[in-house]
Amino acid sequence: MDHFLYKDGILHAEDVSLPAIAAEVGTPFYCYSSATLTRHYKLFDEALDGLDHLVCYAMKSNSNQAILKLMGDLGAGMDVVSGGEYLRAKAAGIPGDRIVFSGVGKTGDEMRLALEGGIRQFNVESEPELRLLSQIADSMGVTAPITVRVNPDVDARTHAKIATGKSENKFGIPIARAREVYDMAAALPGIDVIGIDVHIGSQLTELEPFEMAYLKVAELTRQLRADGHDIRRLDLGGGLGIPYERSNTAPPLPVEYGALIKRTVGDLGCEIEIEPGRLISGNAGILVSSVIYVKSGEGRDFLILDAAMNDLIRPAMYEAWHDIVPVIEPEAGAERQPFDIVGPVCESGDTFAKARQLPPLRDGEMVAFRSAGAYGAVMSSEYNTRPLIPEVLVHEHQFAVIRTRPTFDEIINRDTIPKWL
Ligand code: LLP
Repeated sequence: MDHFLYKDGILHAEDVSLPAIAAEVGTPFYCYSSATLTRHYKLFDEALDGLDHLVCYAMKSNSNQAILKLMGDLGAGMDVVSGGEYLRAKAAGIPGDRIVFSGVGKTGDEMRLALEGGIRQFNVESEPELRLLSQIADSMGVTAPITVRVNPDVDARTHAKIATGKSENKFGIPIARAREVYDMAAALPGIDVIGIDVHIGSQLTELEPFEMAYLKVAELTRQLRADGHDIRRLDLGGGLGIPYERSNTAPPLPVEYGALIKRTVGDLGCEIEIEPGRLISGNAGILVSSVIYVKSGEGRDFLILDAAMNDLIRPAMYEAWHDIVPVIEPEAGAERQPFDIVGPVCESGDTFAKARQLPPLRDGEMVAFRSAGAYGAVMSSEYNTRPLIPEVLVHEHQFAVIRTRPTFDEIINRDTIPKWL
């Protein structure tokens, strides 16, 4: 169900009109729907019904604390990838025993932080990381619960920059070497081996790569148990894709993904964790922007928006498609024309879309980028000294600013000029 719909000709987020939000916070801004976030979390939770499980929201996709609190209240765990994300999850009230720590380069300080504050498990990605973690835990008089992230050498068939499960990627330990690494881990004093972790990539639009990876994990579980390891938890990662282009065939649903999990690893008696990010937050958010100018070029017209690549980098970085729709509903049968939709940043890469068909738009009118709730605000920057844009959360007829726009003074005063200048 879509919570961003036209009502009386005006695009709404749930029951709030976007022009009403724009009047209060100005454009550009991100806007999220609580109902969509809740629904998507529940789809995963219900898909794993019957299994002992925890849905650990991959907070890298959208880590605003209001969203973490909403997820936490629903019972979600968190997948964190840095000390900063760990502290942010804790600040939003997520208990340590619901936080899993992923990432290929955890530092000693980050390990200490998580061991002190409480952690469900570390997903360890290398032998040096195992040794450092053991040493730190041992020095603190505790043992660190771990899974080893295995790299199953499976092609996720997604964009090269977000595929992680092939042997040439930096992630995990080659599955062929896993038994050796588990034996080494079990012998370390500060380590408690509890399971296996796998994550093969993001924006997967088919189930087959998951199936290949999970079957390999099931086989490894049996082997490791035969080797004497008490494998009792499987973290199956995230990565289920979303329909960015409504005209395309939709990726598999969480319920189908859940059935696949049950079919491949359901009979092992393990506790199951998954780490979805994009499917929970992606279609729960839009980016609203105003047209600054309509500019006629050589054989093409440009819509120059007040949002830019620093606010939403996905088109520039991954050639990603986002549907772009006018905030005021075009009349039925309204003529359309192609626009190149761009931001004000001084690079040609600051292009959101080429030859996109839209009804005629005038300066000051607003458009919304759909499916911008994941990897949007979190990947934004202040390039060109453009302030980070506000984030707004809607709940039925209410809305709240959940991150304010910084002032120019706040941005500029973060720099310090050395006294010799
Ligand atoms: N678990 C691990 C270990 C991950 O590395 C990721 C994503 C996830 C879970 C969540 O994956 P999801 O369910 O969101 O697909 N910035 C890129 C996506 C990067 C994904 C990185 N890892 C984009 O905008 O498409």
